[in-house]
Amino acid sequence: MTAPTLDVHLSPDDAGVALREDARDGLTATDKWLAPKWFYDARGSDLFEDITRLPEYYPTRTEKALLQAHAGDIARASGADTLVELGSGSSEKTRLLLDALRDGGTLRRYVPQDVSQSALEAAAREVAREYPEIQVHGVVGDFTRHLGELPGGDHRLLAFLGGTLGNLIPAERADFLASVRATLVAGEHLLLGVGLVIDPAVLVPAYDDAAGVTAEFNRNVLHVLNRELGADFEPEAFEHVARWNAEDEWIEMRLRASRAMHVRLDSLDLEVDLAEGEEIRTEVSAKFRLDGISAELERAGLELTSHWTDADDRFALLLATAV
Ligand code: SAH
Ligand code: AVI
Repeated sequence: MTAPTLDVHLSPDDAGVALREDARDGLTATDKWLAPKWFYDARGSDLFEDITRLPEYYPTRTEKALLQAHAGDIARASGADTLVELGSGSSEKTRLLLDALRDGGTLRRYVPQDVSQSALEAAAREVAREYPEIQVHGVVGDFTRHLGELPGGDHRLLAFLGGTLGNLIPAERADFLASVRATLVAGEHLLLGVGLVIDPAVLVPAYDDAAGVTAEFNRNVLHVLNRELGADFEPEAFEHVARWNAEDEWIEMRLRASRAMHVRLDSLDLEVDLAEGEEIRTEVSAKFRLDGISAELERAGLELTSHWTDADDRFALLLATAV
């Protein structure tokens, strides 16, 4: 096996500056918020993996079944020599794409990119061990900032799986899709996995599971702020809230203060007051309709060439070409 190579576009110092900026902006806003990318320290990445195995959390297993059924079609349509994956996490489902591209005889390189260095390193090592014939080139980076620094290639397939596109708010999403298009050369492909709008009776439990794993994942962002910014949040004093916002068609995860609190963030020299019942929005997870997402792709210069959905129309895989 050839050891994986690693590019770091987001050093711990850069991440620290970005976290400080986000925490100050979000916690001093009238409607308080924190960006979901800060969930994913080593513990947050592990908790996300636990979420993917919960009975209520249907997205991962639905997308996996779609990949099992259609990875061959995707490999044939893309003919890619390089699979680039954004927000790759554990790269678990990616094996299905790697197998199909390898069987098609085109695969030479896998480039996972993630903000979580611990998850990325572990996944890159494991993929390099399982696929000794390809080059594995990990990139620690933020897909909202560092797409331009991804390695080029003759024929890349850029995969963005899991529904993570839905974690961007609409303005970020438009910018992101435009920079995906700018990164790709005409004729290269984007493979996008998105959750679809479904009955809230199925959706909400996926974000509010009976075992409380999602609640722990949500509170983990406060542990990250405590450690990285010298804050004194009491995570257990916050209730996990998952709510379907029917107007924006997204799930909102929030942390609700169970009592009035005064929090200090030493590294920011910032004091924050929370009233009893006040909420911090920690994530949106937008769900899509096929016509809406294909129009968004078109606007960005990405032409939808194929799509696949499961029998219950819960999740979609979309293959688009850069035009
Ligand atoms: N793609 C995997 C993991 C999804 S979890 C799957 O489908 O199961 C979301 C992943 O995106 C996490 O690994 C997280 O660390 C990463 N992530 C979140 N925000 C990011 C950002 N702005 N830039 C890069 N990676 C990000
Ligand atoms: C990574 N992302 C697509 C997950 C989602 O479903 O929005 C994150 C998550 N949040 C709560 N559960 C899982």
